[in-house]
Amino acid sequence: MRVSASVPSRILLGVGAGIAAYKACELTRRLRDAGAEVRVVLTANAERFVTATTFQALSGQPVRTSLWDAAAEAAMGHIELARWADRIVIAPATADLIARLAHGRADDLLTTLCLASERPPLLVPAMNHAMWAHPATQANVATLRARGVELLGPAVGDQACGESGPGRMVEPADIIAALSRIPLDGALAGRRVVCSAGPTYEDLDPVRFIGNRSSGRMGFAIAAAAQAAGAQVTLIAGPVSLATPAGVTRIDVRSAQAMLAAMTAAAAEADIVIAVAAVADYRPAAASAGKIRKSGAALTLTLVENPDILAALTALPRRPFLVGFAAETEDLEARARAKLARKGIDLIAANRVGDGLGIETEDNALELYWPGGHASLPRAPKPQLAQQLIAAIAGRLAAPRGTPA
Ligand code: CTP
Repeated sequence: MRVSASVPSRILLGVGAGIAAYKACELTRRLRDAGAEVRVVLTANAERFVTATTFQALSGQPVRTSLWDAAAEAAMGHIELARWADRIVIAPATADLIARLAHGRADDLLTTLCLASERPPLLVPAMNHAMWAHPATQANVATLRARGVELLGPAVGDQACGESGPGRMVEPADIIAALSRIPLDGALAGRRVVCSAGPTYEDLDPVRFIGNRSSGRMGFAIAAAAQAAGAQVTLIAGPVSLATPAGVTRIDVRSAQAMLAAMTAAAAEADIVIAVAAVADYRPAAASAGKIRKSGAALTLTLVENPDILAALTALPRRPFLVGFAAETEDLEARARAKLARKGIDLIAANRVGDGLGIETEDNALELYWPGGHASLPRAPKPQLAQQLIAAIAGRLAAPRGTPA
């Protein structure tokens, strides 16, 4: 089984005047790393946030800021530039840019390019949450969507203005994933997916806990990819500081026991469970009610084993399709296959920890094993890999049981 994706090769990146313009710098670099040729167009006010020189250095191409640049027009006219692009991406797309695009304005270079292009742009909105929620913005968004324009985000979370809500620009890695999307449309339509993510914290006393280094990024990316594939997604998150993917229902938990309770309740109604969380194998036998004081002597902690959440889900009366993760340092295939069998699950996604890959990194690589079959998902940013995993899971669900590949 092969599941792969790549970004369009010629990308015109439009940058609007929002503080998130700084993230467009990283996006430019990442698009180039992904093999794209990138030409950047800044609105006049975007230059107040980030200079054209920055984008010129990052893209390796001249940057356009005005329709009235005779030399640039002589090199590649604006109509030619609009036709050149395989995809126009606008990040950040401000409320004003969205309004101008909705009304078909061509009052600067970027809006003119969008009007001259036959392909609908990808808009990545970023603005204060009240501006996003305003009926005027929502009406403009609805108009654009009806015309086939795709909007990515906004993400929910803390905003540069100090407030919180939907309005944050989606992260560059997630924009790359959206651009390199493998066709997932409807692959999980009508399915209910439960995904766990992040670490668990096992409290020792009111100020200390045993935790681990899981960032939650892989699980959050998988929840987002499942949602994009049409599923109704519940994300059960350990303690992480990540924005909730749009359209996903999130339940925050702290300990392995709390995660077991939340997972068991949610999984009872689910079609697919993807356990990505790095669940603590042990917890303190008893959490101290008061702060543990130092005594001058060695301290011995007694730990007891936590329940195996995934294994517990195999006993559900309406057993969902169960996917586990295995982070291993050696004997990847043997250990992953042993876990697949021991837990009685349907598919295991194994990754080698080390070699610059693993739980705290932005990239990952996965080996998928199921009874009688195997697939490799080579190194890629986690959001991209998440889409490939969802495509693979959708493929396994469609395949009759026992089909090798
Ligand atoms: N898992 C779980 N409940 C636990 C421990 C792990 O549901 N108490 C799930 C994880 O979410 C993951 C899979 O089991 O999907 C494998 O986790 P891992 O820690 O690699 O495996 P363990 O079962 O803990 O085995 P070992 O410690 O021997 O590696």
